[in-house]
Amino acid sequence: MSRSAKVFNTKLTRLLGIRTPVVLPPMAGAAGGKLAGQVSSAGGFGFLSAGYGASPTDLKQELSLARSVFQTPGSTHSTEVDFPVGVGYLGWQLETPKSTLVELLPVALEQNVQAVWLAFGEDLAQWIRLIRDHDRHIGKDKKTLIFIQISTVKEALIAAHEWKVDCIVAQGVESGGHGAGYALPLQNLLPLILAALPADSPPVLAAGGLANGGHLASVLTLGAAGAVYGTRFLLAHESLYSDLQRNALVSADSDLSVRSMAWDYARETLGWPAGIDGRGLRNGTVKDFEKGLDLEALKIKFQEGVKNQDIDRLIVWAGTGVGQMNQTQPAKEIVEELHKEAVEHLEAATKLYS
Ligand SMILES: Cc1cc2nc3c(=O)[nH]c(=O)nc-3n(C[C@H](O)[C@H](O)[C@H](O)COP(=O)(O)O)c2cc1C
Repeated sequence: MSRSAKVFNTKLTRLLGIRTPVVLPPMAGAAGGKLAGQVSSAGGFGFLSAGYGASPTDLKQELSLARSVFQTPGSTHSTEVDFPVGVGYLGWQLETPKSTLVELLPVALEQNVQAVWLAFGEDLAQWIRLIRDHDRHIGKDKKTLIFIQISTVKEALIAAHEWKVDCIVAQGVESGGHGAGYALPLQNLLPLILAALPADSPPVLAAGGLANGGHLASVLTLGAAGAVYGTRFLLAHESLYSDLQRNALVSADSDLSVRSMAWDYARETLGWPAGIDGRGLRNGTVKDFEKGLDLEALKIKFQEGVKNQDIDRLIVWAGTGVGQMNQTQPAKEIVEELHKEAVEHLEAATKLYS
């Protein structure tokens, strides 16, 4: 893939010092240090996930994998930034009483990551305060950038005006993985958020169902400062998904992408805030849940499925864009392809009027 000579200039690229307004979200169980490092090194920006139940040692290990990417030649990220990756946390996990996951926040901050991503919590403001206090305490000259993922206009207004975050991620109902079942489609959500915010608001990113560079061009023309690609990066060679899961994504049509609570019941991850469910590939777990199979039986079938690596039982999170993705690739190639395709679409669009 030849590298495009054009460099994007958006609120996001200026905020992060990157050339391609493409962001890898912190996907639990899928986005580790290697993937995040490769996306940032290719000119986008990568978040790794603090994950479910990771220990500080696990997180340190993922961070060192990310750091090692920048110690190899060929990285194109701004050299002004010490550690150009981010770490994402699930608010509800940090908020679980007596949770030791809170210890994972200082791990990232002490390593001087460029950004932190927060989502799905009842009280995200407390984590924002903790991050800002940490920066003040150590007298950091460049603050840790705070990204917040939201799915309504009301939440966007709170994030911008009350929490004064650095970047807002607007997550539409098309999104793979967890999200608000009540969210609007991205085409409606994004313009409503942009219209509600003042011109000098933080950058707003578009997330949900995006598959290719044409999608990046389209959300940029709607006014987004960049695009988040989750499912597309599950197909990267460096994602933590197994070959079995990646093959299921490659062969899936978009109508297989459904929202359901089935998987959270089956694997017992039920602490999400009200209204949050997951979008993935419809399989036996979903079909049994819809038929009203007893939850104990659903769990047992799921556990057996995990043991036998049965793809009809395993979870394969996927957004509605999955039908437009048909190959696995190195992450670097995905970033370059998205960049090149977006430039081509934007240039072609200038010929649509005279
Ligand atoms: C496997 C997977 C895991 C995810 N995990 C998280 C997570 O831990 N935290 C979070 O804020 N968003 C998570 N998301 C949602 C992403 O932030 C993003 O909104 C979504 O992937 C965008 O939709 P797309 O997958 O259609 O590109 C996850 C998505 C996927 C596919």
